[in-house]
Amino acid sequence: MQKITIAIDGFSSTGKSTVAKRLARALGYVYVDSGAMYRAVTLYTMQNGFIEADCFDVEGLISQLENIHVSFIFNESLGFAEVYLNGENVEKDIRTLDVSQFVSQVATVSEVREQLVMQQKNFGKDKGVVMDGRDIGTVVFPEAELKLFMTASAEKRAQRRYDELLERGDDVSYEDVLKNVQTRDHIDSTREDSPLTMAEDAIKVDNSNMTLEEQFEFILNLSEEKIKALHKKKRH
Ligand code: DC
Repeated sequence: MQKITIAIDGFSSTGKSTVAKRLARALGYVYVDSGAMYRAVTLYTMQNGFIEADCFDVEGLISQLENIHVSFIFNESLGFAEVYLNGENVEKDIRTLDVSQFVSQVATVSEVREQLVMQQKNFGKDKGVVMDGRDIGTVVFPEAELKLFMTASAEKRAQRRYDELLERGDDVSYEDVLKNVQTRDHIDSTREDSPLTMAEDAIKVDNSNMTLEEQFEFILNLSEEKIKALHKKKRH
């Protein structure tokens, strides 16, 4: 069965990864959370003292890039791949508000992007991949057969992220989460290298008033249409 590439981009906390994971499972595709890769590099940057509240030693980080290895290992019981940083499982550590506060800055560094984009392209070389992020449809897989751009109001997104953090037991305020969402939107969409923009051929999905089920059904239908179209084209 011919496989396609599915690129899901959009603002932070739009529920991209939830729907992407489920879609990959339904299609028997590989799911890659590209944001997790930027988060893992950010964790390394923090652990090694290259970034603090008002100071970011970009050169220091760049000099260490060859020592940063990000990988994914499938966890059978969870049903998805977890992120590893230099061999250590960091799936939980990369989802804190602390990491969220620095990740957009780290993601502005072109050398970081170059290294991660190369790895991401390689994950998708055999197709059959669902990848979510900010530049997947524009930079990583500009040739993807299906591109989606997810969006929702900042308030809705902050509420979702706040609920997630509370459920994990993190001590955060809604106001701080909202501020973080807005700041990241701004940095992600205005950075020089690969800013978050909707690819011309992407389909916009505003999920402010959609349930998870509705989003999933909508996106699964689109994927199946694209897969069918590819088969037809191959037969002719
Ligand atoms: O999807 P996320 O919120 O976990 O992503 C974290 C940050 O990583 C996001 O604020 C911007 C950056 N990112 C990026 O620049 N390019 C990607 N393809 C994915 C994420």
